[in-house]
Amino acid sequence: MKAIITGHSRGLGQALAHELLARGVDVLGLARGAAASAQCGARLRQISIDLSDTGALAAVLQTPLLAEFADAAQPVLLINNAACAGPLGYAGTLGARQVAQALALNVQAPLMLAERVLALAAHERRIMHISSGVGTDAYAALSVYCASKAALDQHARALWQESRGPRPGLRVASVSPGVIDTDMQSQLRHADGAAFPLRGEFDQLHRSGQLQSPRACARRLVELMLDQHYGRQPVMALPPLMEPDRPG
Ligand SMILES: NC(=O)c1ccc[n+]([C@@H]2O[C@H](COP(=O)([O-])OP(=O)(O)OC[C@H]3O[C@@H](n4cnc5c(N)ncnc54)[C@H](OP(=O)(O)O)[C@@H]3O)[C@@H](O)[C@H]2O)c1
Repeated sequence: MKAIITGHSRGLGQALAHELLARGVDVLGLARGAAASAQCGARLRQISIDLSDTGALAAVLQTPLLAEFADAAQPVLLINNAACAGPLGYAGTLGARQVAQALALNVQAPLMLAERVLALAAHERRIMHISSGVGTDAYAALSVYCASKAALDQHARALWQESRGPRPGLRVASVSPGVIDTDMQSQLRHADGAAFPLRGEFDQLHRSGQLQSPRACARRLVELMLDQHYGRQPVMALPPLMEPDRPG
C-alpha cells in the first residue's frame, strides 16, 4: 500500500502522513514546505510544489514520478488534504486573482491528482477528498471556501457513480473531518472581525475545547479509509468525538 497526500507539511496532512507511515505505508507528500524528515524516515518522499500553480502541477503529473512511486502497490491511496480557507471576506472585496488561486488549490489540484491516479495501472485506488461542513452549510465571508468544498463533494459523487459501473477498483469519498486544532483554525480566529463576522464563533470553538487534535482526527480518517466498507457513501462526515480529545 502507498499513499499520496497533499499538504503533508503541517496540520491535519502532517498527522495523516505520520499515521500512515507508522502503519508501514510509504507516503509521497506534496506541499510548498516539508515535513520534519527526522520524524518520518525513508518511507516519506516529498515534492516541494505550490499546488495553486496549475502549470507546475500539470508538469509534475506529466512525468512518470507518480507511476514510479505507486509501482505495483495495492491499493494506492490519494488524500486530497491541502486547502486554504481564504480569501476571507465579503464577495466583491476578495480580488479575482485571489479567488482563482484558492480555487486552483482547493479544486483544480485535487481533481488533477485524482485524474492522474485513476490513470495509473494499479488495480485498487482509494481516494479521499478532505471536505468540510461548509460544503453543505453556507456562510457569509467564506463563499470561495464553501464553493470549493461543495465542488469536491460533487466530484466524489460523480466518481462514486463510476465506481459502481466501469471502475470496480475505485473507492472514493469526500469526508468532512470536523473542527481541528491547526493553523487554519488559528487564521480564522485571528481574521479581521469587520471582514469576517464568523470570527467570534471560531474563537468560541477554541475556548470551549471543541477542536480535535490533528493526530486524533488523522487516526479516525485513516481507519475510515482502510476499512473494508470505505467508499459505500460518497459524501460523509466524521461523527463528533464523544470523549474529550487526548493531547497530541
Ligand atoms: N482545521 C479545521 O478545523 C478544518 C475543518 C474542516 C476541514 N478542514 C480541512 O482539512 C484540510 C487540512 O486543513 P488544516 O486545518 O490542516 O490546514 P493548515 O493547517 O492550514 O495546513 C494546510 C496544509 O496545506 C498545505 N498548503 C497550503 N497551501 C498550499 C499550496 N499553495 N500548495 C501546496 N500546499 C499547500 C500546507 O503546506 P505548505 O504551507 O507547506 O504548502 C499545509 O501542509 C483542508 O482541506 C481543510 O479545508 C479543516
